[in-house]
Amino acid sequence: MDIKKIRRDFPALWKKWNGKYPVYFDNACMTLKPTLVIDAMNEYYTEYPVCGGRSIHKMAKKVDEKVTESREKFRTFLGASCPEEIIFTKNTTEGLNLVSNAMDLKKDDVVLTTDREHNSNLVPWQVQAYKRGIKHIIVHSNPDNTFDLDSFSGLFDRNKVRLVSMVHTANLDGYTIPAKEIIKIAHDHGALVMLDGAQSAPHKHVDVKALDVDFFALSVHKMAGPTGMGVLYGKHHLLEELAPYIVGGDTVSDTTYEGAKFLPPPEKFEAGLQNYGGIIGSGAAVDYINSVGMSNIEKHEKRLNTIITRGIKDFPGLKIIGPAEPSLRGGIISFTVELPKGGDAHDIALILDETENIEVRSGAFCVHSWFNYRKCEAAVRASLYLYNTEEEAHKFIDVLEKTIGLFSP
Ligand code: ALA
Repeated sequence: MDIKKIRRDFPALWKKWNGKYPVYFDNACMTLKPTLVIDAMNEYYTEYPVCGGRSIHKMAKKVDEKVTESREKFRTFLGASCPEEIIFTKNTTEGLNLVSNAMDLKKDDVVLTTDREHNSNLVPWQVQAYKRGIKHIIVHSNPDNTFDLDSFSGLFDRNKVRLVSMVHTANLDGYTIPAKEIIKIAHDHGALVMLDGAQSAPHKHVDVKALDVDFFALSVHKMAGPTGMGVLYGKHHLLEELAPYIVGGDTVSDTTYEGAKFLPPPEKFEAGLQNYGGIIGSGAAVDYINSVGMSNIEKHEKRLNTIITRGIKDFPGLKIIGPAEPSLRGGIISFTVELPKGGDAHDIALILDETENIEVRSGAFCVHSWFNYRKCEAAVRASLYLYNTEEEAHKFIDVLEKTIGLFSP
């Protein structure tokens, strides 16, 4: 990977703040955008900023052509069988909500999740428990923070599991569950599987067919794409069975005062005018990360994570969340701090930013449930992407050491 060249592609890395360049380590929240994506969106907004899917004039046809191209790019990116399996959404959250609302879940149907779900794959099931009486069961991790396959498989003997909905790679600690084994066990027991791929698809090769996953949701703004764009993959026959969720314009082929005739997927799930500029920019994001190569991105992040983990793991008062081995945590390093002279996760994040423009996230990362269960309030998270460098990793270690020193005797 030619990191120097990659960095030139991201204009946000060239802008100085208070005279210094940013060290952007908040990629699990949102990644920066390369010029290829910005240009693709600018082209839409400058040359044919009109609706798709409806009108038959030249500009509208251009939009349709570009949207079709983007859908095909995601089909290839995820290894889906056909473009109709790709639904454009605004984020992973919307994809997960679509399935949780559209599936014909009934009272006492069981949905399994992990113990480290983002709120977006936790609250939807709590709402379905309230509305439809489903049972939501959490599979707790092993003491070493890895997935407990034994306790997971044991749950199928005692419960009518309809759906396993799990975070593929956790935004909390970067740990990736053994999805293939999980999916095999679930299918052997007649359950469907949905993966929250927000933190996996941008960082490693995902092949939905090889995984045999039924639904897979991702956020394009976490993979060098436009803000407010996501994708939901679903097996075609399942999407056909799924009830439409948000309905209206372009989800139907005909209506009368009495009823509506729904279009097949993906149209029946893409209601109203869409974010065409975003969809087009999303296709460019796929082109961009493919040009770097998913396995290169994965290796690069693990290498930086190893440097950072080795550098900070013995800092006094600091405890890394998740498996100790950095290669099991992709591009994410989260840690709690308990320092003799006070100073919490937010203080650390603020000082990193104030002193050296090191931008990390602090808080519960929308995984409040995990923190509350452990009676712990907040952590600091550094999350990496393809443009981060070894120099940045070393700078982070040095500045973090000094920052922790401020709260130690
Ligand atoms: N899921 C995003 C994060 O972890 C918001 O920061």
